[in-house]
Amino acid sequence: MAEKSFRRLREALGLIQHGSFFNIRTAVVFLASAALLCGIYLVASAARGTSEREGDIRVALLADAHLIGPQYVCCTESNDVDNESIMKTVERLKAAQQQIEALSPPPAAVVFLGDVIHNGYYSHNFEWYLANRNAYTVGGEIFGNFSVPVRYLWGNHDYHTSCGSAADSYDRTGLSHRLFRHFLGPAALPYSAVQMGRYKLIFLNAMLGPSWDPTHPRCDTKYASLGAEQLVWLERQLGGGGGGGGSGSGGQQPTFVFMHHPLPAALRNEAPELKHPDVLSVLLAHADNIMAVFSGHYHRGLDWRNAYPFPVLTLPACRYDSDNWFLLHLPREGPARSWRLLDWEKNKGGARCSDTWLYPAATAAEGGLAAAPVAAVAAAGESGGNGGGRPGAAAGGAGGGGPGPGPAPAGYEAFAPHPMDPQPPETGSCGTPRLEEVGAYELEPLQAAGDVPGPSGHQFNPEPPCCLTFQRAFLERCLQEGPTAACCAILGEHLRPSSAAYGASCMCWPPFWSQAQDVFRESGRNASEVLERCAREHGKALQWPGRVGGSCLQPGSRQLPPLA
Ligand SMILES: *[C@@H]1O[C@H](CO)[C@@H](O)[C@H](O)[C@H]1NC(C)=O
Ligand SMILES: *[C@@H]1O[C@H](CO)[C@@H](O)[C@H](O)[C@H]1NC(C)=O
Ligand SMILES: *[C@@H]1O[C@H](CO)[C@@H](O)[C@H](O)[C@H]1NC(C)=O
Repeated sequence: MAEKSFRRLREALGLIQHGSFFNIRTAVVFLASAALLCGIYLVASAARGTSEREGDIRVALLADAHLIGPQYVCCTESNDVDNESIMKTVERLKAAQQQIEALSPPPAAVVFLGDVIHNGYYSHNFEWYLANRNAYTVGGEIFGNFSVPVRYLWGNHDYHTSCGSAADSYDRTGLSHRLFRHFLGPAALPYSAVQMGRYKLIFLNAMLGPSWDPTHPRCDTKYASLGAEQLVWLERQLGGGGGGGGSGSGGQQPTFVFMHHPLPAALRNEAPELKHPDVLSVLLAHADNIMAVFSGHYHRGLDWRNAYPFPVLTLPACRYDSDNWFLLHLPREGPARSWRLLDWEKNKGGARCSDTWLYPAATAAEGGLAAAPVAAVAAAGESGGNGGGRPGAAAGGAGGGGPGPGPAPAGYEAFAPHPMDPQPPETGSCGTPRLEEVGAYELEPLQAAGDVPGPSGHQFNPEPPCCLTFQRAFLERCLQEGPTAACCAILGEHLRPSSAAYGASCMCWPPFWSQAQDVFRESGRNASEVLERCAREHGKALQWPGRVGGSCLQPGSRQLPPLA
């Protein structure tokens, strides 16, 4: 009986991996009954099976908390969903923290992908933050409740740069970095790397380069930039040439890269004196060792599919829904690319909110699971300790090894998270129609930049099938009249790299790009030409694959787009 039910369980998981929305529901029913039938067997096998799991590592990932302190005055956010969610960010991060804390076995670490604090600067004077309870105090209390190490990267809201005015900017090194370390602890470094088993995890800082330097001519805080010093450091980390993992394997290691901004928002050619002058160039030069790149910032769950030669995933924001956290599973053995994001499917294909999943909880598992060993985190530069590091077994091939939940890794069936069925009512600030609602929305075409933001934050959903439905309204004016000032002003608001630009998360999607080209062609226009002229003649920051302002790659290519 047990074997048979296990097979059904695996089949159900397989369905979830490949299935559409509807057979996911069917799969969930199978899964629930299989789990029910085998509950006793699973618990028993879990208690026996600990040796198979030894050395496997799990890491909890979450992004975009946007914590506020008592100084925040409601509400001046850039769209209605952000307005609605901003007063709930503290309670949502607390709820996520408690869920993660209850996991058994506990994750080896938590990685937070930036925008910890929402515009927390009220004084240039460090002493003010010591004297007044503020958003950093709140952050320190919540993150201090994790019993496992937290690794931070930072987001655009964790700094404050006012381009052109050093006096109005808050000192990144002298103030921001001091605050991070004082309130969030010694691991709250500006950027860092850790060795976890045979994998390296690199946490980048996208606010240290010219686009965040108030006195630099290329200052523009819509863009991510690392700065020459960090680019050189990153190159060394990826080349294994020193300062790195030191696990004894010598050469390159399978590596996960974390950066707050999704790659399309990365400034190109920020350090022309370097061989690889920007983050995209460095990553492409080491693409074979990169397991995945994770980001936040766009506030929606996005799988960039074949836009890059390695998996690139954007996590939805914790500020909208406390279900927006994910478990990265790093196997000790087998191909390096057999890593899995175990619960990626809980994000419904590009939504702001995630389904609620069941996780093995510490309380329910007391006894049998308590001994489950998880390898410890080693700081960069320390020896990996974990012994099992094979030389990077990374199979080549673009995007090999998807991020999907996949079948539970061997020995882990009892610990695999799975969807709750039926789903409880959504408590998040979601603002997104479900897939089947797409098409039910009638959007007025935008006629002027003043109409922006057009469809409200509640309506917009960047899933591929939704992208074009919604974008058509943005494109209308350009389809009618070409790259006029009015057309370009509308596009410029939507196709720029920003968490608040509705088109931001569509622009690099190969299916969207090719569909948009078709739409332009049907109207007798050339999409590339329109977008190029908007950038050239109207100075609009547009992102487009292979074109000016774009740091998206041509689908299926490793060619860098030409520089602007
Ligand atoms: C956000 O909320 C404030 C206060 O209620 C309101 O004045 C403003 O118009 C809202 N902004 C948006 C974009 O909904
Ligand atoms: C920390 O955890 C304790 C125990 O669960 C809880 O009572 C407290 O409210 C938490 N504090 C914060 C700031 O989350
Ligand atoms: C569209 O415009 C681009 C850039 O201006 C040009 O290279 C391309 O040949 C054009 N395509 C067609 C079909 O005219």
